[in-house]
Amino acid sequence: MKKINICVLAGDGIGKEVTDWGVQALETAGSYYNLTFSFHHELLGHAAIQATGNPLPEATLARCKASDAVLLGAIGDPHYDLNPHLKVRPEQGLLALRKGLGLFANIRPILLFDELLESSSLKKEIIRGTDILFFRELTGGIYFGQPRGRKEDGAVAFDTKIYAKYEVERIARMAFEAAMTRKKILHSVDKANVLESSRLWREVVQELTPKYPEVEVIHMYVDNAAMQLIKDPKQFDVVLTGNMFGDILTDEASQIAGSLGMLASASVGSEVGLYEPIHGSAPDIAGKNLANPLATILSTALMCNRGLNVPAAGKLIVDAVDAVLKAGYRTRDIMDQHTDENKILGTREMGERVLETIHAIAKENVLV
Ligand code: IPM
Ligand code: MG
Repeated sequence: MKKINICVLAGDGIGKEVTDWGVQALETAGSYYNLTFSFHHELLGHAAIQATGNPLPEATLARCKASDAVLLGAIGDPHYDLNPHLKVRPEQGLLALRKGLGLFANIRPILLFDELLESSSLKKEIIRGTDILFFRELTGGIYFGQPRGRKEDGAVAFDTKIYAKYEVERIARMAFEAAMTRKKILHSVDKANVLESSRLWREVVQELTPKYPEVEVIHMYVDNAAMQLIKDPKQFDVVLTGNMFGDILTDEASQIAGSLGMLASASVGSEVGLYEPIHGSAPDIAGKNLANPLATILSTALMCNRGLNVPAAGKLIVDAVDAVLKAGYRTRDIMDQHTDENKILGTREMGERVLETIHAIAKENVLV
């Protein structure tokens, strides 16, 4: 049987704890669909800087390119927060990886499990039924634009927000295609009342609309979108936006799903996809068995659906997470704020529950 090669990049902080459970969820669900895996672990981020001086060592990129898919934990370390002058930073590794693999689209589903309605800081009447699919442009915009830097005297710094037509077009097409399979509503989020690059963005999206006559396109300014997202999230279905707006809006949207610890993402655009939780490395809770592994576990479900083309295995993982939540189990970050009855678990115990439940559901459905 052919083995599926997965490159695992634990990264920094809680990355190792959460990817350990992602790996096991993938293996367990995969075993019911005759999938066998071979996992290769490589360095990224602060861990890689410490070992090699480079946040994305060549060996890491080469291994990712040679894999069927990549599973990433998180990168980042507080060391850099207090030393903004440092030139080599963990985040550069992640950005170079996205660019190096040609992953121009970051897909972030805002998947709300009913059981977590009470875990959100927002009112449940507002959020119940929310289901949004974000398409965040990932290899362009202000994250990569040149020139960037500081003027000689050091007192002035600048970044460039730049988009080429083809960059907007390729991700817009993906978002339109997704809209066609869903509610046929597409919100394109920009700042076209102020920014040139946003005016181009809007023009390109507008040019595509005749190709998808069934899709209703709503152009929205990012400040308004940020407000609408918590005012009435159910108005959104597919949201298309640029790199930095997407970064910010998806952190905001995670509060609809209860916690940053619940959101998975898929970065796609070439043969090898990268699957990662949207949360950071959470150094304050690293190594304490407190992190929520569900975002990473759900990222492996996305991997099954998109990269590995075994959606049934992806569904098995999501169903298991759903059942564990239904049974009342919670990590600290997704506690029900209105009851003392929470069954609080650590990272390990939550991971174990998910694995047990994958087995239980598979047996119930006679997948053995
Ligand atoms: C994310 C993260 C990254 C980003 C950081 C770690 C560079 O916030 O994936 O959302 O800004 O893209
Ligand atoms: Mg972010």
